[in-house]
Amino acid sequence: MSVYNYLLTQEGFVHKDDLTYPFEERGLQFGDGIYEVIRVYEGKYYLIKEHVDRLFRSAEAVKIKVPFTKDELYNRLDELITKNDIQTDAKVYLQITRGSAPRDHAFPTGTQANLYAYAQDLSRKTEQMKTGVKAVSKADVRWEWCYIKSLNLLPNVMAKQEASEAGCFEAILHKDGEVTECSSSNIYLVKNGDIYTHPPKKNILHGCVRMRIEQFCKEEGISFIEESFQLEDIQYADELFLSSSTAEVMPVIEVDGIKVGDSHPGRITRRMQEKYEMDAGVKGTIFAK
Ligand SMILES: Cc1ncc(COP(=O)(O)O)c(C=O)c1O
Repeated sequence: MSVYNYLLTQEGFVHKDDLTYPFEERGLQFGDGIYEVIRVYEGKYYLIKEHVDRLFRSAEAVKIKVPFTKDELYNRLDELITKNDIQTDAKVYLQITRGSAPRDHAFPTGTQANLYAYAQDLSRKTEQMKTGVKAVSKADVRWEWCYIKSLNLLPNVMAKQEASEAGCFEAILHKDGEVTECSSSNIYLVKNGDIYTHPPKKNILHGCVRMRIEQFCKEEGISFIEESFQLEDIQYADELFLSSSTAEVMPVIEVDGIKVGDSHPGRITRRMQEKYEMDAGVKGTIFAK
């Protein structure tokens, strides 16, 4: 996965070899910042407005002043693509921290936020999307404001590592048995043709792909029920799938070693994958023979 040469900062574009982080960077010392991961297909952003809107909501929630207006940011993000001549499938990582200042928990005064954004090649996870993936369940020990896309990802990192050590793609997080989301994706259970997912409360991230899935359901006449489900419901589910900007719509066929449904990607999941491909305008398809 190669990183493109030019990074965007609040002061303009910098070659990646010339960027240094100040050691008293609040993002590094406190995780005092927010971020977004935006999908790019063949050099074009997907769901950019949703991501920029969420970035500004996160910034407002943690009282960080974004160094650009929304329009300026759209323009700079477009420049990031053209300056790097990106034509492939990629992702853009963008983070904004409260800035660099002598270490003190309270906000520094007169300090400007630091913004960094860079692009990296990222091909679609087509094989996994075809076959489905395995997951493990883990206790959700995160704070209560997970709707803020904050840099504080240690519980997510720990959960994902445990999934990875168990040979799984994701960790499904639960609070006393109630499923919230996954370490880096939202999750959906299908039963009798209806889709159930945790309501968009403060304790989950309101995924941009999740918003599109809600819209796909409207278009298809599928009930999108914002009601949380329990871990124990998974054994009776017809289908289970997760979503994120990098995993798209990903079937989950096994949880904690127990098969979900008939342990193959199900009809509703397949329909959501099809709708996603059409919506994102991807070139290839996972449905090709
Ligand atoms: C905890 C968590 N939930 C859900 C998502 C999915 O969000 P999106 O669809 O905007 O990529 C992510 C994405 O990184 C995430 O980290």
